[in-house]
Amino acid sequence: MRRELDKLRSLAKGRIEGAKNREEIERIRIEFLGRKQGKLKQILNRIKELPLEERPVVGKLANEVKEEIQRALERKLKEMKREEEEEYVDVTLPGKKPSLGKLHPITQTLKEIEKIFSSLGFQVARGPEMETEYYNFEALNMPRHHPARDEYDSFYLDNGYLLRSHTSPVQIRVMERQSPPIRIIAPGKCYRRDAVDSSHFPMFHQVEGLAVDKNITFSHLKGCLTYFVHRMFGRDTKVRFRPSFFPFTEPSAEVDISCVICKGKGCRVCSGKGWLEILGSGMVDPEVFKKVGYDPEVYQGFAFGMGVERICMLKYGIDDIRLFFQNDLRFLKQF
Ligand code: DAH
Repeated sequence: MRRELDKLRSLAKGRIEGAKNREEIERIRIEFLGRKQGKLKQILNRIKELPLEERPVVGKLANEVKEEIQRALERKLKEMKREEEEEYVDVTLPGKKPSLGKLHPITQTLKEIEKIFSSLGFQVARGPEMETEYYNFEALNMPRHHPARDEYDSFYLDNGYLLRSHTSPVQIRVMERQSPPIRIIAPGKCYRRDAVDSSHFPMFHQVEGLAVDKNITFSHLKGCLTYFVHRMFGRDTKVRFRPSFFPFTEPSAEVDISCVICKGKGCRVCSGKGWLEILGSGMVDPEVFKKVGYDPEVYQGFAFGMGVERICMLKYGIDDIRLFFQNDLRFLKQF
């Protein structure tokens, strides 16, 4: 019987070691230690057949075997639990998507404007944000004390420079280093000492445009800007050229589009007018050509300038310019 018990012990241990899951462990427990039909029980049932003096010795051994099997079962269960916790990877679960960054809505709008004008043969030109009064004003036909300068409440720097208050000085820089024909747009940041409100911010973006050649007419300006509006706001958008004044263009026109919200009926966004102003434009003033050494008798040109924040706000129905600069992800994620 002792041999039987020894055999039982090693048989049970081997089976436990090879068990694949909890159900199998439970089956092994019942098979060996089950109170009624267990293999150990079956052996113990025959203990009465032994001589009296041998019974306690075999009984003790049987108890040891039982405890050993129990410990082996517990150890195996623990091991299974640890493996489940540590190594169980469900490869069929969908992965976590890393959230992708995007371009800022102003950058997206800038890129879209650039794309439209480059399809018309315009190239991108850039100029410094720190400018001289000459480029920012004088060369654009706004001499010192000219009343038009009041429109541009500029940030003056200690060294005699200022932060450019529009992108128009890039026109001058391009014409100084290139001769016609010229077709450029100049996107970039501008600065004005404006009080912050829902439509003003001390830093904003403009895109300037300039085309110079022989025989450029107002029709070219109209055709070019109408094409731009239709691509930016849709073909059903109406375009209106309204007479205006800028020191650097003559004649000048502001471009209005039919209100993107009410389609021209009149609403809060267009103050009931049905039209929204989106840019300034005109034929380059002969005085400006003279400043860069172009002969106004030979060359004509048209120019325009638009505020990128305004275009973006109209396109997406944004009612406060400050949203662009607060970096609130709930806003930025929508673009
Ligand atoms: N520089 C003007 C501004 O900041 C915008 C502008 C108007 C630019 C007419 C132009 C132009 O080139 O022809 O308000």
